[in-house]
Amino acid sequence: MNLEAVLAARLAVAFEAVAGEPVDPLVRASQHADFQSGAALGLARRLGRAPREIAADVAARADLTGLATAELSGPGFLNLTVDDAVLAAAYPLDPPPGAKERIVLDYSGPNVAKELHVGHLRSTIIGDALARLLSWGGHDVVRVNHLGDWGTQFGMLIEHMSDHDGDYSLSDLTAFYQQARVTFDNDPDFRTRARLRVVALQNGDPATRAMWHRLVEQSERSFVADYERLGITLTRADFSGESSYQDQLGSVVDELTAKGLLVESEGALCAFPAGFTGRDGQPLPLIVRKSDGGFGYAATDLAALRHRTRELAATRLLYVVGTPQANHFAMVFAVGRAAGWLPAGVTAEHVNFGSVLGPDGRMLKTRSGDTIKLAGLLDEADERATAPAVGIGAIKYADLANDRRSDYVFDWDRMLAVTGDTGPYLQYALVRIRSLLAKAGAAPGPVVLGHPAERRLALTLLGFEPAAAAAIEHREPHRLAVHLHDVAVAFSTFYETCRPILGSPSRLALTARTGETLRLGLDLLGIPVPDEM
Ligand code: ARG
Repeated sequence: MNLEAVLAARLAVAFEAVAGEPVDPLVRASQHADFQSGAALGLARRLGRAPREIAADVAARADLTGLATAELSGPGFLNLTVDDAVLAAAYPLDPPPGAKERIVLDYSGPNVAKELHVGHLRSTIIGDALARLLSWGGHDVVRVNHLGDWGTQFGMLIEHMSDHDGDYSLSDLTAFYQQARVTFDNDPDFRTRARLRVVALQNGDPATRAMWHRLVEQSERSFVADYERLGITLTRADFSGESSYQDQLGSVVDELTAKGLLVESEGALCAFPAGFTGRDGQPLPLIVRKSDGGFGYAATDLAALRHRTRELAATRLLYVVGTPQANHFAMVFAVGRAAGWLPAGVTAEHVNFGSVLGPDGRMLKTRSGDTIKLAGLLDEADERATAPAVGIGAIKYADLANDRRSDYVFDWDRMLAVTGDTGPYLQYALVRIRSLLAKAGAAPGPVVLGHPAERRLALTLLGFEPAAAAAIEHREPHRLAVHLHDVAVAFSTFYETCRPILGSPSRLALTARTGETLRLGLDLLGIPVPDEM
């Protein structure tokens, strides 16, 4: 039950009667009471009445029977105290009501021949939590993994592969990539061959395509292995790399040209969406076709966008990609709108996120300054944690518990601590609940709220639906993560102060409810729970 929403709806009726027009009652959880409404303060001027008078009038008219009592407080607040019977009642944990959409959710998006690294970690973790939350919310979610599996770098990779066929197991693709890069930088003859390879790849030369295929295959295998380890719901069926849009790029250019949206600039075909200017004040181009005739990242994203609204019939497009690409997406969306590929009623949103920092406050790197590979990170998690689920849970929670737009510091000791704002703390709460329930001598019975810690726990549990609804509405998994942490804290106070639990049907029922809330919540975030800790 979304108690906050129910209280707001009841108060809204009274506020409207008093104000003569609809008013948001601004019901919020509060330190001073269970909930507080502060809307009377904002109405004083308009109504020419003292806020306390307005609040008193609303309190007198509001029908809160069977739900809560309202009390005037301070300059004009209404303090709401929920009836114990409401807190004690059993309720389901339902997703928010409202229109259901078909949502294409673009996340993870690693690049072939470069192993998944921590930069992609956030997209993968946040994206997967959103996939789970939105699906639970009743939306029709189409997961898309926009792999970087195309581009000029493949000329160099394939040429290197053909020079060294047999020398490599391709199991260490990062080393392979680096060696190709070194040769490319130092050997002019190799550079020429690499450029010809790009042309051969684009023209569909069978031998070149076969080598490209091997590279992509090998990469995809390692991505899938990482996803499995991390408990990510992306499967191969969701992979739709940049290469899959290649045959649509010509028609993207044709359509944009027909709509008068392309301008030739220094040999390239560019769109200049309104409102985008560079530092020099000049209009910023979105390069659709390069001067050499090739297509890049932007063209592919335009084709993908058109495909998602036209072919996949999405009403909402979400892109879980780091903040540095904000301008890229804003421009792609603007061109998509102008081209009619984002019709009215269809929304596109860059679900951006900050960086993962090392303890020194800079981008997370290995000691030698290399980017950290995800597989290595997961190995380290396994070594440090008591169980794989604990390491994975620690990493995911640390990523999900902060507002996604902020950077966060990757700190093993803090992430893995069993106390504090951590994944293991939540996992431990659930493990403890499960073992309590397994030992229970009595069946859970009706809830009777005696001790303040019981009341606090029951009230906190009622915050689940609003938190999950906010996580969905704002695409902010931390709203749910923070709530689950509140639940675990309330449970641990209850556990320490309300004894005995085992013989009390009421306390067992509260314990069971807490367990169900944590289990569903952690599941929606994609955080696994070990059997024991
Ligand atoms: N491969 C890209 C990168 O590593 C991310 C892809 C994001 N998705 C998209 N549709 N552009 O930066």
